[in-house]
Amino acid sequence: MKLLTIIGARPQIIKASALSRAIRQQFADQITEVLVHTGQHYDENMSAVFFEELEIPQPDYNLQVGSGSHGQQTAKMIMGVEEILEKENPTYVVIFGDTNSTLAGAIAASKRHVPIVHIEAGLRSYNKRMPEEINRIVSDHVSTYLFTPTQAGTDNLKKEGFLLTNSPPYTIDRPGIFQVGDIMYDNSLYFSELAAQRTTILEKLNVQGGDYTLITIHRNANTDDSNRLNGIFRALQIITATYSVKLVLPLHPRTAKQMNALLEPELYQAIHTNPNIILIPPVSFLEMTTLEKNAQRIITDSGGVQKEAYFFKKPCLILRAETEWIEIVKEGAAILCDADPYRILGAYAHFETNPVIPFISLYGDGTAAYQIIDILLGEDGNKPTTNKF
Ligand code: UD1
Ligand code: UDP
Repeated sequence: MKLLTIIGARPQIIKASALSRAIRQQFADQITEVLVHTGQHYDENMSAVFFEELEIPQPDYNLQVGSGSHGQQTAKMIMGVEEILEKENPTYVVIFGDTNSTLAGAIAASKRHVPIVHIEAGLRSYNKRMPEEINRIVSDHVSTYLFTPTQAGTDNLKKEGFLLTNSPPYTIDRPGIFQVGDIMYDNSLYFSELAAQRTTILEKLNVQGGDYTLITIHRNANTDDSNRLNGIFRALQIITATYSVKLVLPLHPRTAKQMNALLEPELYQAIHTNPNIILIPPVSFLEMTTLEKNAQRIITDSGGVQKEAYFFKKPCLILRAETEWIEIVKEGAAILCDADPYRILGAYAHFETNPVIPFISLYGDGTAAYQIIDILLGEDGNKPTTNKF
């Protein structure tokens, strides 16, 4: 069986590491994986660092598309992937999540009638102004194997008319839907201990377990809108004035650029001279895991970081009006704050006095990659493994 796996953005490289690891560890004699990097993310700390640290094989192809408008970026990727498909003739194309790299893989593969495996299928924010929502909807509707991470993901597909009968043969018109849990949970479990052993990020930043809040911001709705970006940073400034806490912000390059362009000069100055606000470049996955595990709480607009907050039992403030990971909000472990300073401060105060319990299991058992491989091997005429993982 030959898998052609398409990655491009930071979270996809991280997710792909779980699948590649499972292939190398147990299925190397049955599966060949061809790795295609679209080049959507290209800075050393947004891409290369993850290959080294998570021991992912170097990509077989790098399309080096770089940044650009949605149309430019996606079009270049489709052209590149199409050529590779012709050459490699894979059994399946594997796509992850909801980025432009996901969409490009979905369009190129579906038009060449290569069955698509969509990992992290079925998620919806029900906000079609999000580029990711368009990418998800299109990708799901041209996939043959839809691996959902959560009950909400499975339910969303049902609402869109997907049949939930899991009997082969699966086709693009009658796809198989399998709820296998979240592949990111595989990684967080696998790397949790290693992160503590191999990183010195807490010492480097001079922070200690429980004395800081970890923050990430990168959603285009927040970084490209002056009101929202200023609102978020005003709230952060007030948090440091009100509570005895440090704020650690590994900045996505998009956010660093937009802070320079859009923050009001006084606020920019205040943020950059505030000794309790620690602005740093993006960190590696093991460093991020260490920062998450030791944070008092987490504030983010990232999809992945919201979930990792839950994996590590940290209360989370979500800087969005809605989320695809609705179950953590329903559990009371996360609060939707949008980019509203009042809501951010209200949620921050809420978690000061209301600890979250009990963090029930929502994302499977950390064997998503193995379950996916097992199902695909069974489909390809191989005997599925009898492992119970
Ligand atoms: C993309 C995904 C988003 C995902 C995020 C993960 C889309 C539409 N968006 O958003 O769903 O959550 O990745 O991080 O696919 N840049 C650099 N260096 C890099 C990469 C980006 O400087 O290595 C800067 C460029 O100015 C670029 C901007 O960041 O224009 C945005 O990058 P892009 O890949 O278009 O979108 P993200 O915001 O990263
Ligand atoms: N991450 C990282 N370093 C950072 C910020 C995030 O390794 O400086 C990891 C994080 O732990 C998670 C993933 O990147 O696994 C989330 O990616 P991102 O927030 O860029 O995108 P999203 O999940 O929102 O698509």
